[in-house]
Amino acid sequence: MQNVKILLDESEIPRQWYNLAADLPTPMLPPLGPDGKPVSPDMLAPVFPMNLIEQEVSTKRWIDIPSEILDILYRWRPAPLRRAVYLEKYLKTPARIYYKDESVSPAGSHKPNTAVPQAWYNKQFGIKRLTTETGAGQWGSALAFACSLIGLECKVFMVRISFEQKPFRKLMMQVWGANCIASPSNLTNAGRTILASMPDTPGSLGIAISEAIEAAVTDSTGETRYSLGSVLNHVLLHQTIIGLEAKAQLKKAGEKLPDIIIGCAGGGSNFAGLAFPFAQDMINGAQMTIIPVEPTACPKMTRGQFVYDHGDVACMTPLLPMHSLGHTFIPKPIHAGGLRYHGMAPLVCQGIVEGLFKPRAVAQLKCYESAMIWAKTEGTICAPETSHAIAAVIDEANKCRESGEQKVILFNYSGHGLMDLAGYDAYLSGKLTDYVLPDDEVQKNLQALKGMPKAEARKSGRW
Ligand SMILES: Cc1ncc(COP(=O)(O)O)c(C=O)c1O
Repeated sequence: MQNVKILLDESEIPRQWYNLAADLPTPMLPPLGPDGKPVSPDMLAPVFPMNLIEQEVSTKRWIDIPSEILDILYRWRPAPLRRAVYLEKYLKTPARIYYKDESVSPAGSHKPNTAVPQAWYNKQFGIKRLTTETGAGQWGSALAFACSLIGLECKVFMVRISFEQKPFRKLMMQVWGANCIASPSNLTNAGRTILASMPDTPGSLGIAISEAIEAAVTDSTGETRYSLGSVLNHVLLHQTIIGLEAKAQLKKAGEKLPDIIIGCAGGGSNFAGLAFPFAQDMINGAQMTIIPVEPTACPKMTRGQFVYDHGDVACMTPLLPMHSLGHTFIPKPIHAGGLRYHGMAPLVCQGIVEGLFKPRAVAQLKCYESAMIWAKTEGTICAPETSHAIAAVIDEANKCRESGEQKVILFNYSGHGLMDLAGYDAYLSGKLTDYVLPDDEVQKNLQALKGMPKAEARKSGRW
């Protein structure tokens, strides 16, 4: 019998995170302040604690994981690497498909891998309270979980459409003691401004981020900071534990490096967590195809532009060099709430500019068809975000069937969908539709970037 679970002992857990910024052949462009000049670490201090800012700007290749953080992560890490033999058989593919199962965390996704360190570093810095935003509720529930273990208060602004579609995620946050609020809300200037002009808006991650930052920086006690679940360098850094474990596990399974690596990408964190440790091998000469997958309804990597843009609607964040659809873009309410974000992590974007990563967009119906195949073969019900990765995996595995190539495909099973059954309900009752963002809509939102500093697409030309 083929081994379908490849496990690591607690003693084999990675003890350092990997920082891709140390190895990118072309250095990253810096984030810019409102005056168009690079932001200094001090300017970020009202928003984040200095120990996390140091990680944000670090170019050290390896960063130690404190043992107190590992003690919390042992609850579910090392996470299993599984071989999708049942899907392989169904597809009649000679490809070997492996997936990192991040759905085993207490909150059900990869998000606690960074929620725990973020809460821990804030606590070390003397912070009492964290604010954040959440799309589908995965990040909000992960931070609520981490704050409850570490002893911090937690306030979560949840994108209104998900607040309504996903009441159980809100309840998870409440069980872990967090305060969850539908965004836009009346609690902040940013929220009130949006509600005045668009009272029926489904909300967006960009709006919720503005509210959460405002709630943190306007707390006069100075004991509140903001926490982000994706996009930033330190968040991606914490997620690299996924790829580092996967490397050790593939070796145990007798495999060399994978041929193809796939992850869905909202702000880029689960994709980066799996892919960055392997991108280091590519930079050192290995051949791989690394694919971040996004929805056709929110196609920032495949149809947006590489620009300097804000991470939020109210322009409270610095300008980040990234692929973006414009910070005013409000995506259609597709079920993959965590993929409804206008921008992408700058580190992932620099990898795209270099040609290390080859992004792809998939439509919603195809994703649900793939999730149904997955449920009927492998047995688990995936998150709507994860179904984007599975759709691309099935495409690649089918190509292998046609060509006869025995490729190794590795992907990130970023979360389960047991709190997201409304999307399956819509699919099964034939109510789900596809949405491809029209070109004029892309152009209209990119207009918001007129007059902003230009981001130069610098690359080594190696890929
Ligand atoms: C299960 C799952 N996968 C993927 C994502 C996308 O986020 P990221 O690109 O940061 O991994 C989310 C975001 O909420 C999620 O909940």
